Amino acid sequence: MIRPELLQEKAIEYVTLLFAGNSGGHDAEHTLRVYRMALYIAEREPGCDREIVALAALLHDVDDPKLFSTAGNRHARDFLAAQNVHADRIELICRAVNSVSFSLNRGQTPDTPEGRIVQDADRLDAIGAVGIARTFAYGGEHGRPLRDSVRHFYDKLLLLKDMMNTDTAKRIAAERHAFIENYLKELEVELGPDPETV
Ligand code: NI
Repeated sequence: MIRPELLQEKAIEYVTLLFAGNSGGHDAEHTLRVYRMALYIAEREPGCDREIVALAALLHDVDDPKLFSTAGNRHARDFLAAQNVHADRIELICRAVNSVSFSLNRGQTPDTPEGRIVQDADRLDAIGAVGIARTFAYGGEHGRPLRDSVRHFYDKLLLLKDMMNTDTAKRIAAERHAFIENYLKELEVELGPDPETV
């Protein structure tokens, strides 16, 4: 069995190569932030397997259907098998990864502590200062007017605070939520009235 630290280093190399060329919302830096945040939460949550948390966080987007046409966690499984990770561990990692995905999980709460932690870390990356930057980067990539991105805050991002699983994530989400609310207040003053609603 490969040492956990070395395996995580290899996974970082793997995602850095895999996401090269992606910008904005789903680049390698998003994955690395989710990884660091997931470890931060895991240190404060009793009863989770930190190595599963680390690898599920690093691999949580490598088979995202919006980015890749791999089925059945093919990228994650191939990577882990090539590192001689035991089949049981591969299943646990893939189970945690799949429980984070809204489409695969039909919006249900992940059924393992590792899945709940990675889901929290992924959601935290959608709010706060980084969340604001990612929202406008995504809107720009898709040719959306500024006000459409602003609506996305109300339709989705401002709801995330109440969807966190762990106490640690709830605390961080509350701070990031307040930051977005302040930002939106100032933005709306500067933007002026929406021509569609006046
Ligand atoms: Ni993600």
